Amino acid sequence: MSPTATEVIQGIMRARAAQKEETHVHEDPDSGEDDCSDEDAVMDESRGPLEESGCTHTEESEEEVDDSVAEDMARFEETFKGISRRFRLINRIGEGTFSTVYKAEDLNYHHYQNEWDVDEKSNMKWSSPPTKRQAAQKKHKARFVAIKKIYVTSSPIRILNELELLHDLRDSESVCPLITAFRHQDQVIAVLPYFQHRDFREYFREMTISDIRLYFQSLTTALRSVHEQGILHRDIKPTNFLYEPLHARGVLVDFGLAEREETDWHQCACGYDPQDRRARIENSVHSNSFAAATNAVPSYPKVDNRPSRRANRAGTRGFRAPEVLLKCTQQTTAIDMWSAGVILLTFLSQRFPFFHSADDIDALLELTNIFGKKRMRETSLLHGQVFETNIPSYSENGHGFEKIILWCTNRSGRDSSGRRVASLSPEEQEAVEFMERCLECDPARRITAEEALKHPFVASAV
Ligand SMILES: Nc1ncnc2c1ncn2[C@@H]1O[C@H](COP(=O)(O)OP(=O)(O)O)[C@@H](O)[C@H]1O
Ligand SMILES: [Mg+2]
Ligand SMILES: [Zn+2]
Repeated sequence: MSPTATEVIQGIMRARAAQKEETHVHEDPDSGEDDCSDEDAVMDESRGPLEESGCTHTEESEEEVDDSVAEDMARFEETFKGISRRFRLINRIGEGTFSTVYKAEDLNYHHYQNEWDVDEKSNMKWSSPPTKRQAAQKKHKARFVAIKKIYVTSSPIRILNELELLHDLRDSESVCPLITAFRHQDQVIAVLPYFQHRDFREYFREMTISDIRLYFQSLTTALRSVHEQGILHRDIKPTNFLYEPLHARGVLVDFGLAEREETDWHQCACGYDPQDRRARIENSVHSNSFAAATNAVPSYPKVDNRPSRRANRAGTRGFRAPEVLLKCTQQTTAIDMWSAGVILLTFLSQRFPFFHSADDIDALLELTNIFGKKRMRETSLLHGQVFETNIPSYSENGHGFEKIILWCTNRSGRDSSGRRVASLSPEEQEAVEFMERCLECDPARRITAEEALKHPFVASAV
């Protein structure tokens, strides 16, 4: 029998309570033993690129709360017993597919050890010991947290997974640590340090190449620490990387779709050595039917008895790597590097979202438009899939990124002899070179986070 939400969360709380020196997780003493339906682990959900509102409120605007938000917060305080004794809700700061996030003041900050507080740590490192008055003032300084209210419709397994991975990543650089978690009946909240950041849509057009280098230094640092632990984030995109351009500092959030590498792996053709793979392709149903077709048009078996292929395809449309779209059954941390490449493409093209597809097929066609039919055929075969399209406008070899970026940034004009007037600056070319390493269709050849930090585009960030 699969566990209910209550059992799973209680399980985490007991396990965590046992690990004293680690993150504290508090169990709500008033909680009942309510059941919550267990849903299947979602294999194929795809978030829309614009579904999340990643808005950030500045300190000045924080008290201006919309009536509807105030009502929502009041309801939350009423239904989640005891929360107002611990936190003062300030505003709603994010609404995603699986949660609502609130900014709140931690009323009991000084009663706990706060190893997670990076600001406090860096202050301690740099400043001289406080005077008595400063110490008293510090005590009264408001400490903010982000309260992530996970929707009750989320499966218990998923909630457990998110909290567990956050716990495992507690010492990872540039990853938002979990302070604690609470449950009241079927409602679970995760408490995280509040990170001041700006909405990506506000700043992505203003970033110079030097700024973008710093952004990627911060993002790849976070990815390296996640990947080092053998964890795939699965949903790398701007709203999940909270970045403050002013301080060139970012933290990775949202491990709602993350998983450990090799979870649910089945042999995929990409795991065979190239010779073996070629032999298998030659003997495949597709090749045989193609060879048998007189007019060289492939045919399809009328009754296809092969089991349908299942693979985790969770992520956000437009940021998913080709192997995710092609249902590769041995996905690796390389999928996150692809998504990082899409973020870079957004900066360089100044288009957000860059990809905007209705479904997976559409998403594959968007990639075909850029990479060309030849590369898509090769990439598909790599995972034992056959790619075919009869859309005549797609070229065999696709388009280079330089051309795409010039076109997107209205620099594609030509002189009277047909020569392109503009070209990318040397700095932009270096960025494109790095992006091509992230947007490598073959995951085995894609740059890793570790290598990315040594790439001249990222390594020279100052
Ligand atoms: N620690 C935090 N500090 C500040 N804002 C946060 C924090 N965590 C989340 N947010 C805001 O809430 C939004 C949604 O949070 P996220 O964890 O991505 O939830 P979801 O799984 O619903 O996407 C983020 O895009 C961000 O704007
Ligand atoms: Mg999110
Ligand atoms: Zn594969």
